[in-house]
Amino acid sequence: MSDHPVKKSAAAKFVVLKPAGYPMKTEFDFPEISEPEVFDRYAKEQWFGTSVMKGDYLFDRRMYPDFAFEIINVEPKQATIGKATVIVVEDKEPSIPQIAASVTIEDVIGQDSAKKKCKLIEKYLNDPQSFGQWAPRNILFFGPSGTGKTMMAKALSNQTDAPILPIKSTQLIGEHVGEGAARIHLLYLRAKELAPCILFFDELDAIALDRSYQELRGDVLEIVNALLTEMDGIEDRSGVCTIGATNRYSALDPSVRSRFEEEIEFTLPNLTERIQILSAYAKTFPISIEAAVDFVKIARKTDGFSGRDLVEKVLKVALHQAIIDETQVRANHFDYALRKVKIESVPSVLFG
Ligand SMILES: Nc1ncnc2c1ncn2[C@@H]1O[C@H](COP(=O)(O)OP(=O)(O)OP(=O)(O)O)[C@@H](O)[C@H]1O
Ligand SMILES: [Mg+2]
Repeated sequence: MSDHPVKKSAAAKFVVLKPAGYPMKTEFDFPEISEPEVFDRYAKEQWFGTSVMKGDYLFDRRMYPDFAFEIINVEPKQATIGKATVIVVEDKEPSIPQIAASVTIEDVIGQDSAKKKCKLIEKYLNDPQSFGQWAPRNILFFGPSGTGKTMMAKALSNQTDAPILPIKSTQLIGEHVGEGAARIHLLYLRAKELAPCILFFDELDAIALDRSYQELRGDVLEIVNALLTEMDGIEDRSGVCTIGATNRYSALDPSVRSRFEEEIEFTLPNLTERIQILSAYAKTFPISIEAAVDFVKIARKTDGFSGRDLVEKVLKVALHQAIIDETQVRANHFDYALRKVKIESVPSVLFG
């Protein structure tokens, strides 16, 4: 798909820059990007054909000669700036497009119905044109914390090579009136350029709260309205898939909820799935495990734990204890982890 046949490396799909300053001290002000879309054109024109790699710098040659931008992400890794390259500058709210590495849909343990539904999104991102007006556009992931929602979104990105734009919804709430709404609009513009891509709104409940909660935060309403407008998407936005994630499904505003054509539930792992999670992750331990470690027994004792709880509070704690003891991972290390988790915290199911 290279539009620049002279160069050997492929045309970059996107380049993310971060203002790095001048090479020498100066009294000049730091230039600020006020019009991201215009900047994209400006940047592409002056750096057309330049090969780009993460960690390198690009120097402005026009308005602010020698002002440096650090390249903080490029897709693919070895690439050249071409006509179709999207150039974005990381701003205060980092929503840096990235293609999540290595994780696949099959790595998500359990969540069978979620996986089936995500296969459809995978098909769509692989070939948006074929869906025409029947595109899955707005999908909601809901379920307790630590059950694999973010992991699934990353897997979708990884398997389809579609960049993911991760947005923490709380970061949309700006300092000034109108800021949040403007940010949402910009995000969708950026997404359209990057398409096929995934816009991942994490912690959606933080902005799309039921109206009865919104009374408390007037500015939020305007952000929700902006989001609704974009989600309704009168414009053609082929290849942009919005995924919202929340673990407070019932607090979501019904008008926001109704915009999602598909709601995908993530559940806490059952006994079999807990055994699978424990054994799958234990295989990646850097040290060996004693044969006497019984994952069935541990899984029985961890009813109500999420995948994240099992990884972070059980496996990791047991492993670290074994490393401290300079031995293999033993049953007593897991006993220690379980005792510790019972004292220090409550499984996430109670917060659901
Ligand atoms: N079903 C699962 N299969 C395999 N690993 C899992 C699963 N669920 C959780 N994990 C592990 O827990 C980590 C955290 O999960 P993830 O970030 O996807 O949770 P989440 O549902 O997005 O939670 P939150 O609502 O708090 O954002 C994953 O990176 C993975 O290591
Ligand atoms: Mg998450």
